[in-house]
Amino acid sequence: MKNQLFLFVSLFVLVACQPKDPIEKQIDDLLSQMTLEEKIAQMNQLSGGYYSEDLESAVRAGLGSMLNSVGEETNYYQRIAVEESRLGIPMLFARDVIHGYRTIYPIPLGQAATFDLALVEEAARLTAQESMQAGIRWTFSPMVDISRDPRWGRVAEGYGEDTYLASMMGAATVRGYQGFDSIVQLAACVKHFVGYGVSEGGRDYNTTWIPEIQLRETYLPPFKAALDAGSLSIMCSFNDINGVPSSANKHLNVNILRHEWQYNGVLVSDYASSQNMIAHGNCHDLREATLLSINAQMDMDMENHAYSNHLKELIEEGLVKEQQVDVCVRNILRMKYRLGLFDNPYCAVENPVYYSSESLSAAQRAAEESAVLLKNNGILPLSSTPTILVCGPLAHSQHDQNGTWCFDKVDSATVTPLMAFRELERAGKIRLIEQMGKHWSREVSQSNITQLTRLARQADVVLFFGGEESILSGEARCRAHLNLPGDQSAQLRALKAIGKPVVLTVMAGRPLCIGEDINMVDAVLYAFHGGTMQGPALANLIMGVVSPSGRLPITFPQAVGQIPMYYNKKNSGRPTSNPVLYDDIPVGIEQFSIGADSYWLEYGDKPLYPFGYGLTYTTFEYGPVVLSDTIIDKSAIIASCEITNTGTMDAVAVPQLYIRDLVGSITRPIRELKGFQRVTIPAGESRTVSFEIEEADLAYWHLAQGVDLGADGDYTFSAEPGDFHIWIAPNSAEGQAARFALKK
Ligand code: GLC
Repeated sequence: MKNQLFLFVSLFVLVACQPKDPIEKQIDDLLSQMTLEEKIAQMNQLSGGYYSEDLESAVRAGLGSMLNSVGEETNYYQRIAVEESRLGIPMLFARDVIHGYRTIYPIPLGQAATFDLALVEEAARLTAQESMQAGIRWTFSPMVDISRDPRWGRVAEGYGEDTYLASMMGAATVRGYQGFDSIVQLAACVKHFVGYGVSEGGRDYNTTWIPEIQLRETYLPPFKAALDAGSLSIMCSFNDINGVPSSANKHLNVNILRHEWQYNGVLVSDYASSQNMIAHGNCHDLREATLLSINAQMDMDMENHAYSNHLKELIEEGLVKEQQVDVCVRNILRMKYRLGLFDNPYCAVENPVYYSSESLSAAQRAAEESAVLLKNNGILPLSSTPTILVCGPLAHSQHDQNGTWCFDKVDSATVTPLMAFRELERAGKIRLIEQMGKHWSREVSQSNITQLTRLARQADVVLFFGGEESILSGEARCRAHLNLPGDQSAQLRALKAIGKPVVLTVMAGRPLCIGEDINMVDAVLYAFHGGTMQGPALANLIMGVVSPSGRLPITFPQAVGQIPMYYNKKNSGRPTSNPVLYDDIPVGIEQFSIGADSYWLEYGDKPLYPFGYGLTYTTFEYGPVVLSDTIIDKSAIIASCEITNTGTMDAVAVPQLYIRDLVGSITRPIRELKGFQRVTIPAGESRTVSFEIEEADLAYWHLAQGVDLGADGDYTFSAEPGDFHIWIAPNSAEGQAARFALKK
């Protein structure tokens, strides 16, 4: 007993004598000088982007943050904050810089398709450079909402359906934004915490029901990865989860975020998301929404006007303690110190440099690597000096090509496919025919089709750039049909009818159900909305300067009726093996056995294209998975595979590591992505790729021994002994499994 007491006392003395972090000391000092009104003002974020006396007064009273103010305006308001407020606390300027500031990179869904973490981090680093020159020090990105529903417009902003891929992409983006100096460059804000991508029916802002185990297994890990990568902030989501809106969700925001994860960064509401709780129906008025939000430790109030209007009265009535406010203000001041704002509050860039060659080069590489070759009957890459017809609604749209969430681009800086092919014609590499006229993806025009087929007859090959206008993608842009908008399919049908070879490039913010369109053409590049340099990128891909290397970060369903559809599904008790399809059922026979297992009569259980899928201009042969051992006990094992480029072009393989836990106390997915690499393999050569697998990679959330489901979950995150399959494969649907066992 004496020894334990001695140990406890010495530990206490040790901790108490630790020199306090200088930032914490500065926070203590500043906090001790702040009035309650000034503390509450720090917890308030208002929208800028205009000059107003009311806004100036709020700044003078100590406003904590402003969103949507950029450039010289930030210095205008910052001067008031620093020089005219009582304590001179600098403001934090925020903006939705989601996939680029001026230079626009592919939408995050497209960036995920690159499976290139270094490139994604580089794009974020360059984005931070441009943003900071505009006075922005806080971006509301990365968005890591897992979504398996392409109807949801915001699937464009996330990294797709897979938890591991989204975790890696989100962490890479945080590192790129924030940098590695002692002073954080651009503060990240991982969002939307949590489960927003599960909005029922793919309809934005809609309700979500997520069981605890699934919440922990699928939706929380990407946030934890982004916070572990250092994200200075996190944003709650609009949806209610299991009946409680995120803004007031103490299980998420207190139990998990603050206690389990020990997070002391800033939790910011989404835009008026606390106010939205009145519509949600879990509170009567803004005063109550304020109480719910502060009790869920929401630090910063984005445009709710809740804290500024009701927090003081709640404290005076004893319903909220000032200490709760102090915790929030500490988190906000800590972020400002980490950004160095107290020493350098102003944007001191006289002549900002945007669209640098470095940024444009990275944007082009990202657009090249984000394009996924779905089909190629050999027509690509184009060779010789063909006569090309460039057509389609996205062939020359300097706005739509960039996709959703890019407020600060300069449209004229966008290089479209048509501009890139005009360049090739000037260089004598092709003869170009253009279908002129501004087309919109939703346009229906018989005269367009008449003109199109007339021009196509003069060409050797038709390059049709289709997809979605950017207005159809992003927040509050949910679609019930996932067809190519307008009469694009009719245009493709008309081209098919005249027998011209057609290359379809799709520039969209989501997977589309375009199986019939794909059947009508000779090759398909799925390029997503690819940003400023997508034109030259697509020209390079189509002309064979680079081979496509993108892989799908999300399953492409054959039909909307199959949604939600994702690769890492559970097996069910009756997995389908031999579906009898709708058209194969004889008409007029009343009794016909079509079995009793799990599939859709029209399509079986197959998607249009699976997660991880993508072709290149060569062919790769994957050898068997070779294991260093077939037992994992205390040490890791190495899984290797030899990949041979059996074609005639150098290309990038993207081997993906999947496992399957064959038996678990909770049913397990039929595959789980646990690793990936990008490997350039010259034509005719082989490379061996290796991955390390250890027990920690096999852990998952399940109930502790002896606890029944539904009880107050005593959840545990651990691996259970047993047998596993393992693949190193080109996508989530192919490959030969090897087998190993975990012994404990
Ligand atoms: C929006 C979005 C969020 C964004 C915020 C500020 O409604 O949900 O992602 O960061 O408001 O613009």
